[in-house]
Amino acid sequence: MPIQAVLGCQWGDEGKGKIVDLLASDADWVARFQGGANAGHTVFAGTERIILHLVPTGILHARVRCAIGNGVVLDPEALLEEIRYISGLGIELRDRLRVSAFAHLITPVEKAIETLSAQDLAIGTTRRGIGPAYAEKAARRGLRVEDLIDPRALRERLRAQWEEQARACGSGEEAFAAAAGAGFEAVASRLEEAGRALAPLVCDVTDLLLEEDDRGARILAEGAQGAWLDVDQGTYPFVTSSNTTAGGICTGLGIPPQRVKKIYGVVKAYVTRVGLGPFPTEFTGEHADRFRELAGEYGATTRRPRRCGWYDAVLARRACRVNGVDELIVTKLDVLGEEETIRLAARYESGGAARDGGWLGTRQLARAQPVYREFPGWRRPLRDCRAWSQLPAEARDYVQALARETGARLGRVSIGPGRDQVIAADA
Ligand code: IMP
Repeated sequence: MPIQAVLGCQWGDEGKGKIVDLLASDADWVARFQGGANAGHTVFAGTERIILHLVPTGILHARVRCAIGNGVVLDPEALLEEIRYISGLGIELRDRLRVSAFAHLITPVEKAIETLSAQDLAIGTTRRGIGPAYAEKAARRGLRVEDLIDPRALRERLRAQWEEQARACGSGEEAFAAAAGAGFEAVASRLEEAGRALAPLVCDVTDLLLEEDDRGARILAEGAQGAWLDVDQGTYPFVTSSNTTAGGICTGLGIPPQRVKKIYGVVKAYVTRVGLGPFPTEFTGEHADRFRELAGEYGATTRRPRRCGWYDAVLARRACRVNGVDELIVTKLDVLGEEETIRLAARYESGGAARDGGWLGTRQLARAQPVYREFPGWRRPLRDCRAWSQLPAEARDYVQALARETGARLGRVSIGPGRDQVIAADA
């Protein structure tokens, strides 16, 4: 297996964690290349529900090694907490986890900036300091993991950043410390301690992965969030602050594009979105609430109710083209089992699109009128199906139409949370 990647093609929460967990059984390395602890990758191992935020999902396989690349924004305290959580599950991981020296840090400074700027409220962020961390990186003020493990550099750089941000926020050092949850000294010594604990894991992840690839290791890149949350390709400004699409693999791991040989695109059989921003196929009223309850659509990181809607092939098509998807994986098909009629947006009203310039911008999407295709529901549970032929004909028809409208090759369909509930499609 050369370098492969699993990418979300909607607004995140497509079920990538489960797919990475599945593919990881054939991998030597699983690497995260962007995002941070805003991600919530849920995996069911037996009856246990495990939610990972920063550590790659491959860690649940005892043989697999994991890397956090330079494109990730890393909250060292959150990472240590997650390491403790995973160890508590009886999973040994310290020897199997490597962290890039060049990943940028999220410290209480970035969290304070997010709170004080009210950016979290305007976008509906996960409040994990993601936006400010990428902003500090671009502004060349950010701290990196290499600073965390060098106490002198840590204090110097943190001090400069702290003073500048406290000044910039305009409400004084005390207000800044309150937003950060502690004063400078307390924050600095907490980070020093985290640096000591993480130092043995730190290396040049790019060098490591390139060498592993040279010697034929199987590397899987694990995307977080989804294409429509990409800072360049998504519904800006209602996006996360990283490149969630395929280009992010190269910059976030330091890997040249021609080494990435296969892209799995993951979509739900419907769509969800957390946070604000346009959503052309969104359910309204009683249907929205009933569907959310039935589907259990609450954020894995924030527990916020997710907005739900019909599958949008217009957006998925674009996401698959941007990502160069080789194989489409459709998740949560079972959730549609109670619907009498299932709808799928095949296109938007052309009158509107022409008036709007025809591109899929945020303002255009806010006005877009989807044109739906309708499919009869199958009205029965799918959880016990184990082969394509065992799926009801209506379910097969729907998912095949979904892939055709998306313009991608259908590979597998997931019909429940279990590791054995993924079916190879006979498309
Ligand atoms: P941030 O990534 O915390 O800055 O949040 C920016 C936007 O991305 C918000 O709408 C979040 O709800 C959304 N977002 C961030 N991470 C995820 C995720 O893992 N799943 C779904 N939405 C996410």
